[in-house]
Amino acid sequence: MCGIVAYIGPREAYPVILKGLKRLEYRGYDSSGVALLNGDLNVYKKKGKVAELEEMLVGKDVHSNIGIGHTRWATHGEPNDRNAHPHISASGKLAMIHNGIIENYSQLKQDLLRKGYTFKSDTDTEVLLNFIEDIKENNECPLEEAVRIALKRIVGAYVIVLIDQEHPDTLITARKGSPLVIGIGKNEHFLASDASPIIEYTKEVVYVNDYELAIIKADELILKNLGNERQTPFITKLDMELAAIEKGGYDHFMLKEIFEQPQTIHDCLRGRLDAESGSITMSGVTKYAEQIKNANRIVMVACGTSWHAGLVAEYIFEELCRINVEVEYASEFRYRNPVINKGDVIIAISQSGETADTLVAIENAKSKGAIILGVVNVVGSSIARISDAGAYTHAGPEIGVASTKAFTAQLAVLTMIALKIGYEKGTLSQERYLQLVRELDAIPEKVSTVLLQAENIKKLAEKYKDASNCLYLGRGYNFPVALEGALKLKEISYIHAEGYPAAEMKHGPIALVDEALPVIFIATKDSYHEKVLSNMQEIKARKGKVIAIINEGDEQSIALADDVIVVPEADEILSPMLSCIPLQLLAYHIGLAKGFDVDKPRNLAKSVTVE
Ligand code: F6R
Repeated sequence: MCGIVAYIGPREAYPVILKGLKRLEYRGYDSSGVALLNGDLNVYKKKGKVAELEEMLVGKDVHSNIGIGHTRWATHGEPNDRNAHPHISASGKLAMIHNGIIENYSQLKQDLLRKGYTFKSDTDTEVLLNFIEDIKENNECPLEEAVRIALKRIVGAYVIVLIDQEHPDTLITARKGSPLVIGIGKNEHFLASDASPIIEYTKEVVYVNDYELAIIKADELILKNLGNERQTPFITKLDMELAAIEKGGYDHFMLKEIFEQPQTIHDCLRGRLDAESGSITMSGVTKYAEQIKNANRIVMVACGTSWHAGLVAEYIFEELCRINVEVEYASEFRYRNPVINKGDVIIAISQSGETADTLVAIENAKSKGAIILGVVNVVGSSIARISDAGAYTHAGPEIGVASTKAFTAQLAVLTMIALKIGYEKGTLSQERYLQLVRELDAIPEKVSTVLLQAENIKKLAEKYKDASNCLYLGRGYNFPVALEGALKLKEISYIHAEGYPAAEMKHGPIALVDEALPVIFIATKDSYHEKVLSNMQEIKARKGKVIAIINEGDEQSIALADDVIVVPEADEILSPMLSCIPLQLLAYHIGLAKGFDVDKPRNLAKSVTVE
């Protein structure tokens, strides 16, 4: 949510920043801008995608060895040129970019207005910047000091990066609650919201912690806390290749990421699940295995697609481990004073590891004595770092805004945890355990088989693309898949879609059914299959169009459905990892057929670092 990039060093800053902004565009894309220092402070900003900024700057003087850039997802103030970042201070000497929200900006703004400040934008960022400048001028102190004083009075989340016309050799940055990575090159530094703009220049990075501030010159990085004490930068090596953040011949990141799933699930299982010996090795989980086995309850905390993974995991944990599981929207959980007892186990599920609601929810739970396990994709992210232990999903960078491969990797990790705990606890027999381990090991290959349906699904997308509503129905393990399928369609094609437990349909949504309503059933052969067939009959009786995800040879479903998509059979516990894939492809192809930007759907952003 908002991407920031900055550079200082011997290179031309603008090309580095521009490329970085394109890589971070998944975080927000309603406007973008750069500020470059070359004697003058030049700020260029433009509503729309980064390409529009680039076009505007053709032929302009963008020469500079220090600069900051931003791609925005609007919070305060509509997306337009005026509200785009960077913002310039009242004196015209400071420029700043910001990712996050300043919650007490209105009070600060009133104070500044009384002092005679005027504002060019509607943003909280411009308020913070002028607040910093006001402190700097009143105290006649260095910018670094003014930033420190200002941040102590700020409520909210931020990463800020400032440049000062009077000090063209220094970048000042600080973080609380939003992500910030500093890349360390030879006499140069790169700053970004994630590692993707940095990876091609250096693999040595520092993840800045909350309440830290950095003073950065080309050849020097000084890290301090807000108490002005020097901190030793902890340098880590990036474990990521450039190819992972490029499209690699696919038209879109979303399609690439859907097709990567056999590999990403394999990567997620590799080194952990050994089908031959029947062992599951997860060191983070082993450390807390006793507490998990004896927990009175497990609470899954997440948002969006990750929340859907939590719902599937609820069914799996309850079945295999016989532990009471609750699945919570992080945004609700963090505010409603939930009962948390010492020893409760919280599993935080997050692709980005930066989702503000999930992060704060687990911070609260941790302070009350809960054990926090993170199931996170981005290595070194905030949720990963605050968790007591956990397991990375190893899906690689997910750049398409709609989550796909992260979801199946989350399911794979959560299933492994449940298998391990259930087996060690004795609630899962050895025979069933070994059967599930072997079946899980075979999932990547079965995913490849599902992907062979892509052309068939593309044709179905053409057929159903003009629907104005869609219903997704499933039962048991596939009920959350229905929710996920509906979310994917909404996000990518802007078609209104709802997911429901198939049996719940008759309690209301069935009123929507007519000959124009496509109803997508997840009807794979599981213990609910007969019931799902009855639900299908109910839709057919009301002339709804039925599209069914089925297993091969399911003549009953074929007879009822208008269209079918065949997926391989799998144990019902594992079937969501297969049944979700046609739904991802259906959403992708419908969005594409309607002419939308499937990688950057309107109004959305990846990594939601505001609440
Ligand atoms: C949906 C989607 C979002 C995210 C949600 C949580 O396609 O991408 O619903 O799943 O914003 O994000 P993470 O998993 O990064 O915490």
